[in-house]
Amino acid sequence: MCGIVGYVGGRPALDVVVEGLARLEYRGYDSAGVAVLADGKLATAKRAGKLVNLRGALEEEPPPEGTLGMGHTRWATHGAPNDRNAHPHVDCTGSVAVIHNGIIENFAELRAELEEGGHRLLSDTDTEAVAHLLEDEVKAGGGLVEAMRRVCGRLEGAFTLVAVHTGDPDLVVGARRNSPLVVGVGEGENFLASDVAAFIAHTRDAIELGQDQIVELRADGVTVTDFEGRPADVKEYHVDWDVSAAEKGGFDYFMLKEIAEQPRAVADTLLGRIGTDGRLHLDEMRIPDRELREVDKIIIVACGTSYHAGLIAKYAIEHWAGLPCEVELASEFRYRDPILSPTTLVIAISQSGETMDALMAVRHAREQKAKLLGICNVNGSTLPRECDGVLYTHAGPEIAVASTKAFLTQLVAVYLIALYIAQVRGTKWGDEVFAMVQLLERMPEKVEKVLETMEPVRELARSLSNERCVLFLGRHVGFPVALEGALKLKELAYMHAEGFAAGELKHGPIALIEEGLPVVVVVPPRAREVLHDKIVSNIQEIRARGARTIVIAEDGDESVEPYADTLIAVPAVPTLLQPLVTTVPLQVFACELATAKGHDVDQPRNLAKSVTVE
Ligand code: G6P
Repeated sequence: MCGIVGYVGGRPALDVVVEGLARLEYRGYDSAGVAVLADGKLATAKRAGKLVNLRGALEEEPPPEGTLGMGHTRWATHGAPNDRNAHPHVDCTGSVAVIHNGIIENFAELRAELEEGGHRLLSDTDTEAVAHLLEDEVKAGGGLVEAMRRVCGRLEGAFTLVAVHTGDPDLVVGARRNSPLVVGVGEGENFLASDVAAFIAHTRDAIELGQDQIVELRADGVTVTDFEGRPADVKEYHVDWDVSAAEKGGFDYFMLKEIAEQPRAVADTLLGRIGTDGRLHLDEMRIPDRELREVDKIIIVACGTSYHAGLIAKYAIEHWAGLPCEVELASEFRYRDPILSPTTLVIAISQSGETMDALMAVRHAREQKAKLLGICNVNGSTLPRECDGVLYTHAGPEIAVASTKAFLTQLVAVYLIALYIAQVRGTKWGDEVFAMVQLLERMPEKVEKVLETMEPVRELARSLSNERCVLFLGRHVGFPVALEGALKLKELAYMHAEGFAAGELKHGPIALIEEGLPVVVVVPPRAREVLHDKIVSNIQEIRARGARTIVIAEDGDESVEPYADTLIAVPAVPTLLQPLVTTVPLQVFACELATAKGHDVDQPRNLAKSVTVE
């Protein structure tokens, strides 16, 4: 939830750290702060609000230049987002500084004990306790690494910590439990960060840290041990994208760039997964075909936009693979005594691979001995480590808080999984799977077509910027699309927006319809006659009651024209694949409407891209 950067090397640390924070700001933007070690002294600066405020403070009062430093961008959990609660936090002597991502659950006891011991705590945060605990442990001897190890032994909850101490001016120490932390390996310099984006401009060589590990970072080397002090096995990897992928590339917002990148992202996610024989090869799933044949139930867990991908997956899995499939919000899953067994396959979908609710759901499923498959976009994140297998979406870095290209690639991943299971279990013949795969391969071109025709959608969005409420209706896979359209509008435009299953209209939501209320309706393909005709009746019902109808239907669907105040045509595609084309106008709509309202599209208020606390 927060962004962390650490640096030690030959360059001015402040520049590296602030540049890193700029790339991590999507993780939280309530406040930002830095600490630099220079001439044996610790200098810190922190400011409430976005990074721009900190930059201003640093310009007014530049800290002394040093080559070791760290920085933090915060999404507040404990204590209001003000200057005082911003990280780094320092101990009583001003010689230890610490930054933190996560929640220390036993912080109240620790703070009370420290205060009793004479420490003066100045903030309302859980993090500050760590600075004072480190102060005591450093005094007790053994150096900062040993002190960190002992302190971690006392902490409960989720934490990634980075600390520096004036007594060891060449060392940055990091500790990881639950929240992400990666090492960037440079030449004569090394980096620590919540996400490789922070150091990608300097190195693409990274080390993935595991659970309960401590990293000792010096300019000339990196040592990783576990919380007991034993050398730890680490995984080194090369990041396969470069700094340009983490920049706006001429777009005003990351979100606009990410929407535009969708055809490429969809194509990349299909790449290498379809054999020349027309069969799907998903070896990275690492769940043997024999075990897949034994699966008798699938449960999908996810949050936010990823949950909507899960809802769509259910239709594909049940239709193609013929297996019962439940979809559950990850935050609810482990609190309802789900019935799992070794023949249950749990699929966790998470763009970041760090969403705590998703991770906790996965851990719960593991305890019940279910098989675990992750769908994830971030290499080196926690989710893939905790699952038996993973299918990576190759969307590239998604930086805007509201998910777009990751969602479309998650859809591709679930289609591939559903078809693969169908292939393995024989619920679809090989030629049927191949025919669908061929249609999937045409989807980048279809998404591109949608993007080429978005100007009227943008105009429409601008014309609705003073509305207070928008409703979204859909049926079948169009229902999760309606939910996603509404979520995008809430996240970006801060408008009341709700998605409904069109069939439920008469059971309540129709009471909301009043003169001029904009209602977006996602119409299934004409080929699904029953669904299609029912929704056309729904459109007539709401229009008769005064709704302003905005209808998304396939190209050439004349039957909806008389009832559509605005008609958005998308290319004709098979029913199950339709979300790939119907979601895109809704993303563009929300983005444009939020822009017209003057909102920061990439960093909507109160949100963060990955929620690493429960
Ligand atoms: C946050 C983000 C959403 C995202 C959700 C799940 O709420 O703001 O955009 O859909 O987390 O994130 P994940 O990384 O698990 O897909």
